[in-house]
Amino acid sequence: MDDIYDPKFVKAVFDRCSDRYITFSLVCSFGFTERWRRQCVAAMPAPAAEKAHGYDLMAGTGEVWPHLLQRFDGIRAVTAVDISSGMHRRAMERLHAHRAHRIEFIEDDVLASDLPSDSADFVISTFGLKTFKPEQHARLAALIARVLKPGGVFSMIEASDPKGWWLRPLYLFHLKVVLPLVERTLLRGAQDFSMIGTYSTNFGDAAQLAAMLRGHGLEVEYTKYFFGCATGVAGCRPRHPHR
Ligand SMILES: C[S@@+](CC[C@H](N)C(=O)[O-])C[C@H]1O[C@@H](n2cnc3c(N)ncnc32)[C@H](O)[C@@H]1O
Repeated sequence: MDDIYDPKFVKAVFDRCSDRYITFSLVCSFGFTERWRRQCVAAMPAPAAEKAHGYDLMAGTGEVWPHLLQRFDGIRAVTAVDISSGMHRRAMERLHAHRAHRIEFIEDDVLASDLPSDSADFVISTFGLKTFKPEQHARLAALIARVLKPGGVFSMIEASDPKGWWLRPLYLFHLKVVLPLVERTLLRGAQDFSMIGTYSTNFGDAAQLAAMLRGHGLEVEYTKYFFGCATGVAGCRPRHPHR
């Protein structure tokens, strides 16, 4: 049995998905993923630095950049990190657009990354949390606390299990039955997006990650979006650690 949380396995899933990822994610979420990316950016406190530099972790094909650069005009540079060469290639195609000079792309496993300490005015991540299991979330939390400068800000969002919502069974039916069926029919029997459904339902929500980030001394706000179908964490690294 494959370990679905092994970074090599995850990379292969996204390498195979990369061509169709943008369309599938938009259509199958009825446009919600775009709205959630915008809300994730809106939840991030403004970076204090005038010409801010930061990281987009699990950047995919750079879906969040338009929202990020539109809201925070003063951002000087975004370093995008993603393990998938397929997603990377797609992102670079998009980079031929006018924002290329502000984006650098690193193809790397975030969990094994040696990004420099105290190097980021902000960290953003959209829909990159679900392919990690709890001990990997712990590593991610440690990385974010380490790379943020004092006063640095962050925001992350992920599709989640809307526990307690009366329409939850319908939502799970959509994820576990409708999406795999659409994929098998329209995408010639591929099973990759069904994997994304499995990751999403296993993920639960971002509450545990919020606790891990607080454990590293970060100030964290935990938010539920649309009845908990997505959850997010946003906040900052205090300039002066609390005693
Ligand atoms: C669902 S996509 C999200 C892409 C994009 N941020 C968005 O808003 O749609 C998740 C991305 O996380 C990347 N990823 C998964 N595990 C990773 C890891 N260990 N290090 C870096 N990137 C990773 C995948 O290659 C994929 O591009």
